[in-house]
Order: sequence, then C-alpha cells, then structure tokens
Amino acid sequence: MTERFSGRTAVVTGGGSGIGLATVRRLASEGARVVIGDIDPGPGKAAADEVSGLFVQTDVTSQEQVEALFAAAVDTYGGVDVAFNNAGISPPEDDSILDTGIDVWRKVQEVNLTSVYLCCKAAIPHMQRQGRGAIVNTASFVAVMGAATSQISYTASKGGVLAMTRELGVQFAREGIRVNALCPGPVDTPLLQELFAADPERAQRRLVHIPMGRFAKPEEIASTVAFLASDDAGFITASTFLVDGGISGAYVTPL
Ligand SMILES: NC(=O)c1ccc[n+]([C@@H]2O[C@H](COP(=O)([O-])OP(=O)(O)OC[C@H]3O[C@@H](n4cnc5c(N)ncnc54)[C@H](O)[C@@H]3O)[C@@H](O)[C@H]2O)c1
Repeated sequence: MTERFSGRTAVVTGGGSGIGLATVRRLASEGARVVIGDIDPGPGKAAADEVSGLFVQTDVTSQEQVEALFAAAVDTYGGVDVAFNNAGISPPEDDSILDTGIDVWRKVQEVNLTSVYLCCKAAIPHMQRQGRGAIVNTASFVAVMGAATSQISYTASKGGVLAMTRELGVQFAREGIRVNALCPGPVDTPLLQELFAADPERAQRRLVHIPMGRFAKPEEIASTVAFLASDDAGFITASTFLVDGGISGAYVTPL
C-alpha cells in the first residue's frame, strides 16, 4: 500500500459504518491520522480505536458540534488536510412526494445537505491557513438520474450537495483547496440493507439496472475517496465523480 497520507490528517463524518468506516480504514492504511465524527458513539469509537485515531461524537446537523469536530482535529494533530463529509441517512419514510411528510423531508435535508454546508464552512478556513486541502462530499448517482423508486428528499438533498460542491470547487481552486462530489451507485452497506429489508422488491428493481449486476462494496468507494483526496487527483476539482458500476451510462443492461 502506498503512503499517500503520511503526515496528513483526515476528518471523516459517518466514519462508524459503511462507506465511512471503509474509508477510515483505507486512509489510515495509507498513513493518515483519522478523526471520526459520528452521532453513534459505539461504532464511532470502535473505528477510531481500530486505527489509533480520534473519535468526536458529532451530530452533523449541529453547527456547534461540527465546529468542535474540526477544531479537535487541529488541536490534536495540527491541521485538517482532508475532509470526507459523508454522514447521511435514507429513511424508508422518505418515499414518493405524495406520501413524504414535511418533517421527514426536513430531517433528510438537515442530515444530508445542511451537514455538508456546515462541514465545508468549518473545514475551509483551516485549509486556507494551510494553503492546501481536499474535500470530498458524498452525493449519490441519484443526483444525476431520476428513479421511479422515489426517495424525494434524499434525491433533492444529493442534488444540493452536487451543486454546492461544484461552486466551492470553483471558488477555492486558486487557494489550493480541491472540492469534489463523490457519486456512488448502490453500495452494500447498512443504509441500503435497512432500506431493502423494508421492501425487497426495491432491491430487485434496482439490480436490473446495474450493468455489473451487483452492488458496490464499501471498499470500492473508499479507494475512490482516497484517490480524490490524494495528490494523485491534483488537477481534479469541482467534479461529479461517478462510481456507479456503469448505471448512468446504461440504456439496456446485460441479461
Ligand atoms: N449505501 C449506498 O448505496 C449509498 C449510495 C450512494 C450514496 N450513499 C451515501 O453515502 C453516505 C454513507 O452511507 P452508508 O451507506 O455508508 O450509510 P451507513 O448507514 O452505513 O453509515 C452512515 C453513518 O452516518 C452516521 N450518521 C447518521 N446520521 C448522523 C448525524 N446526524 N450526525 C453524524 N453522523 C450521522 C451513522 O451513525 C453511520 O455511522 C451517505 O451520505 C449516503 O447517502 C450511500
């Protein structure tokens, strides 16, 4: 394994599970000091212990707590080189626009979109001081495609992440700060398992549209985050980076 993050500090939100956990492991294996912000203290602390990192219990919808997360990274390790703003939710009650209530709509917007605003707002001043930084925001392939298996607030929140990321990537390009949006296709994580356990037909309806015929593994997303956050991606910013097994390029998929 290369040591692309030797001497660098990475903050990962939602680092206790799924894509975040796989990324914590990947970044640490490449030499990063990792700071995990997660609302759930059990898995979050376990992940931090596993990589000898730092856990800060954080609700990413709280400005105060998000500021404290990035401040803890700076106080403990001296800076923030990478921010992977990844925490997100996908509750089953977020469904067709006709059935999704305003409270569920707002909750999903807060956790998936407002959180990315808060994390970028907290991370960028630290990166400006360093004259360097890489931000990766987790959007989704649903931000670029429509789905008849609707999750209306989730889709809208990820579209917001995409547009915000593009703008930040452009605004801070000459200050050495790169900002990219990662758009995973369906990934085999607790988030997706929970959704499909509630409705197995949804899993089948989705699988048929994936040229590769399977969901992604969290490690396949983590390796892309590591690439985007590393100097190997030095000329990539403001991008919509799809890791979707070919879904967004497909018309008819193989049998
Ligand atoms: N799994 C997929 O198919 C898929 C596809 C595309 C995009 N994504 C996105 O990837 C990201 C990670 O998803 P995952 O599948 O790994 O999910 P997951 O449920 O496995 O993990 C999400 C983590 O975020 C944490 N979290 C939830 N609410 C939080 C809050 N308010 N504050 C802090 N932490 C909070 C959870 O405790 C958990 O550790 C999400 O943004 C999700 O929308 C997932």
